[in-house]
Amino acid sequence: MRLVFIIFLFFSSIINAAEMTSEKMPKHDWSFEGITGTFDRAAIQRGYKVFTEVCSGCHSMKLLYYRDLIDVGFSEAQVKVIASEYTILDGPNDDGEMFERPARPADRFVNPYANDNEARASNNGAYPPDLSVITKARKYGPDYIYNLLLGYVEPPEGMEIGNGMYYNKWMPGNQIAMPAPIADGSVDYDDGTDNNAQQLSEDVTHFLQWAAEPEMEVRKNLGIKVILFFIILGTIVYLAKNRLWRDIH
Ligand code: HEC
Repeated sequence: MRLVFIIFLFFSSIINAAEMTSEKMPKHDWSFEGITGTFDRAAIQRGYKVFTEVCSGCHSMKLLYYRDLIDVGFSEAQVKVIASEYTILDGPNDDGEMFERPARPADRFVNPYANDNEARASNNGAYPPDLSVITKARKYGPDYIYNLLLGYVEPPEGMEIGNGMYYNKWMPGNQIAMPAPIADGSVDYDDGTDNNAQQLSEDVTHFLQWAAEPEMEVRKNLGIKVILFFIILGTIVYLAKNRLWRDIH
């Protein structure tokens, strides 16, 4: 009888432990996955719009230059216009003074804050991380970013949320200092794509993934060519070997 009880306790503890482990990160379908995966230029352009209109108010993107946008299908003229809408602090000039000028395609994305202290001061003490390589810097990469943006749900009953913090299902520790940045319709699309929260989150994540690894397509393309080369070379060597050794027994 006691043995049955011990076995029961053992199994119930396993079941309990399984219930307590947090939910698995849901997988999302991305066009850039797999060895033949490619970026969706239209999605990246829409994602860039979401980034500029929403995220760039708080997050920098220091590793990106405006001219990089040519890679996702903007023309040089368009990139010139996009850049010129930002103001850059340049200098010093011949008189030793700093001056402001419109940004050019060869400039880096303009930072929303003058320095890190201002960034913290404006965000309740929390630092909004630079988003240039964020999909590489987090476990589960794009799946994490996508789910995080949509992960603002009601906290479980009885959970205390810190001052200026928000409950997020996917943030490690479940508390985040970033208010939910995206809701249905937060950004209007020009190409008629539905602008629900899922679509906006998917597009901005696509943009961030491209920003973190703009050379991905070239890398995958080269990988496929190298594999094909070895298959062909292997076949030729095999046929040559058979032919050379044909008459020797
Ligand atoms: C109002 C300012 C604000 C806006 C707008 C904003 N963020 Fe944030 N974000 C923050 C702050 C502050 C943090 C740091 C949160 C923390 O450490 O708790 C953060 C953190 C993050 C993180 C890192 C989470 C982690 O795992 O550490 C990601 C990713 C992120 N933001 C993406 C975005 C994206 C994408 C957008 C645009 C759709 C956006 N943010 C818009 C303020 C903002």
